[in-house]
Amino acid sequence: MADLKKFYITTPIYYVNDVPHIGHAYTTIACDTLARYKRLTGYDVFFLTGTDEHGQKVERTARKNNETPIQLADRTMQRFKDLWKRLRISYSDFIRTTEPRHIAAAQKLFQAVYDHGDIYLGEYEDWYCTTCEQFLTELQLVNGRCPNCGRPVEKLKEESYFFRMSRYQEPLLKYIEEHPDFIQPETRRNEIISFVKGGLRDLSISRTSFDWGIKIPINPRHIMYVWFDALTNYLTAVGYADDPQKFEKYWPADVHVVGKDILRFHTVYWPTFLMSAGLPLPKKVFAHGWWQVEGQKMSKSLGNVVDPNQIIDEFGVDPFRYFLLREVSFGLDGDFSRQALIQRIDSDLANDLGNLFSRCLTVIEKYRNGIVPEPVGSTEREGRLAAQRAETLIKMDQSMNELAFHQVLKDIWDYINEVNRYIVDTAPWTLVKDKTKQDRLSTVLYSLAEALRGIALLIAPFMPETSEKMWTQLGLPDKPGPEDFASLKVWGGFPPGIQIHKGEHLFPRIHSKGADLEISRRTAKEAPQKASETLDETKKDLAQQTSELSSGQITGNEQNLISLEEFARIDLRVAEILTAEKVKGSSRLIKLQVDLGTEKRTVVAGIAESYTPEELIGRKVILVANLKPARLMGIESQGMILAAVKDKKAVLLSLDREIDVGTKVK
Ligand code: ME8
Repeated sequence: MADLKKFYITTPIYYVNDVPHIGHAYTTIACDTLARYKRLTGYDVFFLTGTDEHGQKVERTARKNNETPIQLADRTMQRFKDLWKRLRISYSDFIRTTEPRHIAAAQKLFQAVYDHGDIYLGEYEDWYCTTCEQFLTELQLVNGRCPNCGRPVEKLKEESYFFRMSRYQEPLLKYIEEHPDFIQPETRRNEIISFVKGGLRDLSISRTSFDWGIKIPINPRHIMYVWFDALTNYLTAVGYADDPQKFEKYWPADVHVVGKDILRFHTVYWPTFLMSAGLPLPKKVFAHGWWQVEGQKMSKSLGNVVDPNQIIDEFGVDPFRYFLLREVSFGLDGDFSRQALIQRIDSDLANDLGNLFSRCLTVIEKYRNGIVPEPVGSTEREGRLAAQRAETLIKMDQSMNELAFHQVLKDIWDYINEVNRYIVDTAPWTLVKDKTKQDRLSTVLYSLAEALRGIALLIAPFMPETSEKMWTQLGLPDKPGPEDFASLKVWGGFPPGIQIHKGEHLFPRIHSKGADLEISRRTAKEAPQKASETLDETKKDLAQQTSELSSGQITGNEQNLISLEEFARIDLRVAEILTAEKVKGSSRLIKLQVDLGTEKRTVVAGIAESYTPEELIGRKVILVANLKPARLMGIESQGMILAAVKDKKAVLLSLDREIDVGTKVK
């Protein structure tokens, strides 16, 4: 009989043709948070992540790089591992599909499906998307391209083994309908139900036209379809081929967390393979949404792929973890922007939590020499504080099990704000002045310490580093663990008499000035106007500085400096001038049409005294792409090109080397 308290959670295994980005970090941080929560609440957790190393896509990328697929896999796999270390990902096992244990497991599953009579030899003649590693029919194509990633597809014609997926249409439908939790969120479940109702075709599960993969056990000329290989990783790591006891203990998985783009592989292909092999199905597959970056799809060609390492270098690990799980409901799409990240750090972390923590430790330090006093009685006010924590704990468990991370954080922050109200309501700085109120002060200071202990534990799954810092500064022994978490059910677990060690502030504020904070995700309706106002201000500042620079006035005075964030809000892009003509009635202005890669813009530039239209065509220039449009001689100018100007002569900024239009200039 399997241990009831086990919890088996998985991330997808990541392709090694790409380096880790924010999308990979997102899934992995979410799984880590849930794994940590389950450990804290007493579960024996097995948390699996790893890399997907076979397939045509990996083989082609390696060939392009003049290396072997395994060299590429070794290199990229290490980058994932390094990032997970930095992000404090507490995985139990990191699986690579090129490992012998996995090859054995994938072949075992294939054999089991074959033995069940569900595999036959045929010929595949249709389309294939190498990016998604997916077989497609003519009907599924959108304008001749892949319906998922929009990239071109290839025609395949080769001998192939097929899996009788069609046999499992009815059993799968029945299973999904009888297990409402199997596919989450609900909207995704409905999509899959209608897909399955639309009919399941047999699936090609082997290839012969390349050889970077696992040989199928029944015919070594055939390579296993990479999704058959990859999905099996979830069985491999819990001992499907080599450790029956472990397998008995952990399989089926409690939850596979995946991106919405790969839900169908996990809820149609995967369960039907398992049904055929006679294995239990995972209890839940949860599909999260996708991140865009500053309103645009993240893509290499746009050059806006967010490297988690850079965010960590600049803002720290915990703020990044917090932001990803707080900003967007898990399941919905989100937009990543520095603005929103800074806003969250300053308001939720530095202000609500960091200031509260530092304020509480200061009063304990000042009024009781840093020793947490014994409480002397309590009032209805402490009762309210304790009651809200108890409620938060109950809600947390429910929301965690629903993977509603944003909701958990919202509830924890409601509690943090209640503690902020408590310190204001009880005003220890007033109590200290009144000799008759010293017992009351002891109760208040004790309650603050107990509240902070609770907060350190509640945030531990999300922000492990901050939780440990709080724990140490509170003078508590060891690290926050399951016994501490269990003690939260009853108010008053803080051991009085402990010496606190007030240390550095938990979260330094990113912005010292208020201006940028006004542009908030939470006041989205106001944002566009305020954003452009602030940008105008930044521009005014820049203009001012430029004139000061040219007249040699600039000094080290802070007033004249802009922060990196202010500068980063100016969207500078490489653009190519497509057409140029003088503006009628003006000796100074030229009307340009420029190509930004994703769009074309009209720009009116005051450079006619320095350049003829002919010499401009075909030049690559730098465009300020997010400038408010302005009308010049009746023409709307949608940006500004950069030039150095002296004695009214403009000299356009140019590029040192060839680079794609649309590339961001930083
Ligand atoms: O699909 N926002 O690997 P992968 C959020 N090897 N998530 C994103 C994202 C974004 N912008 N971009 C990518 C594979 N992801 C297979 C999995 S599992 C048996 C095999 C997510 O490296 C994406 O949704 O292409 C997916 O869940 C994950 O990154 C892995 O992508």
